Formats: sequence, structure tokens, C-alpha cells
Amino acid sequence: MSDQKIIAVIGATGAQGGGLARAILAAHGGPFAVRAITRNVDSDKARELADAGAEVVAGDLDDEASLERAFDGAHGAYCVTNFWEHFSPEKELAQAANLARAAKRADVRHAIWSTLEDTREWVALDDQRMPTLMDKYKVPHFDAKGEANEFFTGDGVPTTFLLTSFYWDNFIHFGMGPQKGPDGNLAIGFPMGDKRLPGIAVEDIGKCALGIFEKGEELVGKSIGIAGEHLTGDEMAAAFTRVLEREVRYNAVPPEVYRGFGFPGAEDLGNMFQFKRDFNEYFCSVRDVEASRALNPELQDFESWLRANNEQIPLG
Ligand SMILES: NC(=O)c1ccc[n+]([C@@H]2O[C@H](COP(=O)([O-])OP(=O)(O)OC[C@H]3O[C@@H](n4cnc5c(N)ncnc54)[C@H](OP(=O)(O)O)[C@@H]3O)[C@@H](O)[C@H]2O)c1
Repeated sequence: MSDQKIIAVIGATGAQGGGLARAILAAHGGPFAVRAITRNVDSDKARELADAGAEVVAGDLDDEASLERAFDGAHGAYCVTNFWEHFSPEKELAQAANLARAAKRADVRHAIWSTLEDTREWVALDDQRMPTLMDKYKVPHFDAKGEANEFFTGDGVPTTFLLTSFYWDNFIHFGMGPQKGPDGNLAIGFPMGDKRLPGIAVEDIGKCALGIFEKGEELVGKSIGIAGEHLTGDEMAAAFTRVLEREVRYNAVPPEVYRGFGFPGAEDLGNMFQFKRDFNEYFCSVRDVEASRALNPELQDFESWLRANNEQIPLG
């Protein structure tokens, strides 16, 4: 029987968990084996993981008992929730609570909770700088994850709290790629003013998570922020210009304008960028690039990621 320790990976068919699953599978014969958890063990992505050597197990974030079964016998658990599937912080909180309880009952030795800041610790609900959303949040998809940290602590789960960063892959999949403006020029736009946006190739989140599982106990109870680079909008636009060999500009859209763009989640994201802008020193300081590289020596910077992916970026 293999003496590899099992890492149960939530979201293994998705971006963060998929990066971790691939990183573990790439280290053939390494210390860990992958258990990919999915709602649909018959999906193409689940089959791909099985073909690559993962154990594929059914589990649903809305069903605590299924998570407990999926975590049974696992050394580690990568825990991530997908806010953008339902846009409900209450649902995200309930799913995180299920994860924490299941990890405790299955006696997981090391969990990673993919979290973000509860921005209400910086911006009180009555602070008029940004609107309160859904009655009790400033940045719903951040606040719920941060609030959920205490489920893991409270249940006594040995947990590392992983503070992730903006995926550069949003330029491919989230409609944030360069768009042609009324002047005919390509531009990227978000409300960061001249401040730096910590970003990362999503594949590198999984590789950093593997580095955390490898370090093990010394990182239990710690918050670890990760980023590939901290760049201003102008610096990102300059990298686009070099890689695409055509001019791309940066529009520092004001947050109140961004919030009014009308797409689902625009208000949440407008507040998110404003939080990153207004608390920029803090936000960057906890996402140290060199510490991220120590966890993942293959960590990419923005321009390397862009050169490798530019053909997938839709130009509007
Ligand atoms: N975009 C960014 O820049 C960014 C940055 C930092 C953090 N985040 C956060 O990242 C999270 C999303 O992670 P991702 O990008 O890796 O997601 P993703 O690529 O959209 O994939 C979602 C994954 O979650 C799984 N999942 C969703 N609901 C589930 C449920 N009820 N039970 C079991 N599994 C479920 C899916 O598995 P199956 O469908 O196979 O069941 C899938 O593997 C969001 O909460 C977001 O706030 C995003």
C-alpha cells in the first residue's frame, strides 16, 4: 500500500483546486496523493483527473455528511467555496461551516481554507466611503470568507488561512480583458487609481498550496498571503502593450462608476477594488511575492504569464 498521504481537494475540477490537484499529480511519487472532490464524478473534468491518477470522490458543499465521507482518511483538505456560483454570502458561510465541521469530524491533520479579508474590520458598515451591500456586507465575497475563518478556528481544525489574490486569468475568463473604447484604443479598466494590485496566475495558487502542505505543521494557525506580482494599472497596461505589440491603456475608473456598470457582482467588485486601493499598503504587505516564491519556486510574474496566455485573451 502506498504511504502517500491523501490531500482531499475541494474544487479540484475548478481553477484553484485544479491547480493543486495538477501540482500534486505532477510530483509523481511525492509525499501526497490527490482525492478530487466533485458534485459530478462523471463530468469530463472529473474523468480527466481520474485518468491522470487522482481518486475521484463525490461530495457537495451543501451536504456536510458527504464532505465528512469525502475527507475520511485524508491527511489534508483544501477548502474553497465558489461565491460566484450563487452570489450569496449566507450560502458561502453555510458551506464553509460544513467544511470546517466535516474536517474536524474526519480528523483532518491540515486544512487550508482559501479565504479573503473580512473588509468590515477596516470599513465599518456605517462608513459612507462605500455602500453597504445586502444589508450587512461591504464586499460580500470577501467578508463571508473572512467571517468563516472562525469556523475553522472554533472547531479546532488545524488550518492555514490562505489569502489569495486577483487572478490574472480574469483577463481571460471574467470579461476583464482589454476593451476597445470610443476612441478606438484598447484599455483595461478598474478602480485602483495609481495603487498596486496584487495578482497571481491561478495555477500558482495551487502550487503555493502544495508548498503549504509540504511545510505542514509549522504553518498551522498562520495566515499566508500569496501573489505573483504587485502592479499598478499602468504597469499592467504597459505589459499588455509589449506582449500584444499594440497600445493598451489603463483607465482608472472611479469606484462609484464601476459599481454602476450593472453586470452581476459589479457593486461587490467596485467595493472590492476600492478596499484594495484605500488600504493598499496593508493589502500588499500581507501578500509577499518572495514568500510566495519560497512556497512555489515556479511562481510566474505578470509578463511571463501574459506571454504564455495572450492568445486566449479576448480583445473586446
Ligand atoms: N477570480 C478571482 O480573481 C479570485 C481571486 C481570489 C479568490 N477568488 C475566489 O475563488 C472562488 C472560486 O474558486 P475557483 O476560481 O477555483 O472556482 P471555479 O474555477 O469556478 O470552480 C468552482 C469549483 O468549485 C466546486 N464547487 C462549487 N460548488 C460546489 C458544491 N456545492 N459542492 C462541491 N463542489 C463545488 C466545483 O466543483 P464541481 O462543479 O465539479 O462540483 C468547481 O471545481 C470564489 O469564491 C472567489 O471569490 C477568486
